[in-house]
Amino acid sequence: MCGIVGYVGKKRACGVLVEGLKRLEYRGYDSAGICVVHEGRLHIVKAAGRVSKMEALALADVDVQAGTIGISHTRWATHGAPTEANAHPHTDSTGRIALVHNGIIENYATLKKFLIDKGHVFVSETDTEVLAQLVGSFYNDGKTSLADAVLAALGEVTGTYGIAVVCQDEPGTLVVARKGSPLIVGVGTDEYVVASDAAAIIEHTSNVIYLNDNEMAVLTSEGMRTTTLDNVPVRKEIRQIEWSLEQIAKGGFEHFMLKEIMEQADSIQMALGGRLDMRDMRVQLGGLEKVSRELVKTRKIILTGCGTAWHAGLVGEFLFEDLAKIPSEVEYASEFRYRNPIVEDNTTVIAISQSGETADTLAALREAKDRGALALGIVNVVGSTIARETDAGVYLHAGPEIGVASTKAFTCQLIVESLVALMLGRRRFMSQFAMEKYIEALAAIPEQVKTVLASSDSIKEMVGEYADQENWLYLGRGYNYPVALEGALKLKEISYIHAEGLPAAEMKHGPIALIHEGMPVVFVAPRCGTYDKLVGNIQEIRARGGRIIAVVTEGDDEIAKLADHAFFVPDCPVPFQPILTVIPLQLLAYHAAVARGCNVDKPRNLAKSVTVE
Ligand code: G6P
Repeated sequence: MCGIVGYVGKKRACGVLVEGLKRLEYRGYDSAGICVVHEGRLHIVKAAGRVSKMEALALADVDVQAGTIGISHTRWATHGAPTEANAHPHTDSTGRIALVHNGIIENYATLKKFLIDKGHVFVSETDTEVLAQLVGSFYNDGKTSLADAVLAALGEVTGTYGIAVVCQDEPGTLVVARKGSPLIVGVGTDEYVVASDAAAIIEHTSNVIYLNDNEMAVLTSEGMRTTTLDNVPVRKEIRQIEWSLEQIAKGGFEHFMLKEIMEQADSIQMALGGRLDMRDMRVQLGGLEKVSRELVKTRKIILTGCGTAWHAGLVGEFLFEDLAKIPSEVEYASEFRYRNPIVEDNTTVIAISQSGETADTLAALREAKDRGALALGIVNVVGSTIARETDAGVYLHAGPEIGVASTKAFTCQLIVESLVALMLGRRRFMSQFAMEKYIEALAAIPEQVKTVLASSDSIKEMVGEYADQENWLYLGRGYNYPVALEGALKLKEISYIHAEGLPAAEMKHGPIALIHEGMPVVFVAPRCGTYDKLVGNIQEIRARGGRIIAVVTEGDDEIAKLADHAFFVPDCPVPFQPILTVIPLQLLAYHAAVARGCNVDKPRNLAKSVTVE
């Protein structure tokens, strides 16, 4: 997904901008560009492909190297191919104003026609150039300031944007604005570093201002002015970024994804931290206190999210019905927002999102809020848009997740859902005795995770035998059915192997036709109420020549003997099994992708945070 970095201060801007873009590379992009203002002129360098290619060109340009104010961008193509011409920054027709943009200008075609009729000539296919030229047209027509021209242009725009703008006639001013696309202002000494993601700011300062939708900031090395897009002044509080640079770096692992898989014992411990009261044996969630009375009266829970977060929601559906006895359903955020959903009184919507910025999840949340639902968030990124727009919520505290394929965020999402379900269950009907059993089990999970992670090498060895197989099936039942979906998604995302996840009993209604000699079939089959049925399903696959890879409970020889390969997870209450059973599947996907030479952390066509529809 696109990334923005901007700088104004006393340092040479180029270094800050390029290093910042490198920190955002994990988000996925296909071209990069930079604009530095020096001696009253804009100096722009762009390239299709990696940031390093653009950096080499920037290093050879003395003017780009010299300026102390500039903007930069990594683009993930939406309008027009990933070419140099379409890369940001884009300029107005006089070449005096340059702009970078995340998001989509929905009425760009109408605006473009209007501008062409006025004599503007376009050099790219992008919606962003339309915005740049529109700003330029207000600037040149009205002889206004850059900030006023930006406000006037944004007044004409429908769509979403995070933008950063510079102008050669106002060589000390950086203008930024947002609507629907994140922007954070890092506040240093005599300098500001602006970015769409905290990862690009953290090495300069941990003091930040989160711009809200419909807000603008005008930054110079002397100070900052913030207003709404209606030009009403707003006071912004300086907040602290919680994450350190070391947390963001790879920590000695070959890939971020492996690091994030391997640190799950710690991330789960963080997610549980301070929330399990082991003395009174209860769950305490400070983030939900202010809504707890309303929450206890909830008659229905709607869980919504996208991708892996949606799979977490699917587990949540089981958890809230099973542990809290509240009717629950999970909805794809992208579908929920458009299908005129019925939101009755006393409904709670829970938006699940690692980034807190996923456009569809945010839109679904807003839809549910408009219809009167209590809005909760289960989010990782502190201060993200979803976190700020919910009535209350529980952060994951999983630490930054950089690998595009979500791993530790998923297990922490399951932890947080379990905590919320237990808290509600206890306040509604659950006995203290049952509660204690669950709390003890949750407290034991981090140690149990360590034993599952120890199987990484044997999973790697097993995967070697199957890495050339192009079709895999993942099957599970009950709580472990969403795990089968998540295991299949992980494999697809990073190894480009076709994989399908299904509730195991559905196999006989069609997908069993796919089974052929040697086809790998993964069973998520820990001890549970449907264990015997799963044994039957395994036999059906074996009879047709499929190879069985099973995730089973420690000490279970029955399925282990039937399977070609078995990976063990410690015993725990069924509602918490997915937290453990998903880990061998994350490792399987990781090792398969490495064996196939895939770019694990930056899989093709994918973005970490999808902030457009
Ligand atoms: C993208 C990522 C997925 C992620 C989904 C939801 O598609 O590639 O890994 O699960 O977005 O992201 P979120 O940040 O809302 O959890």
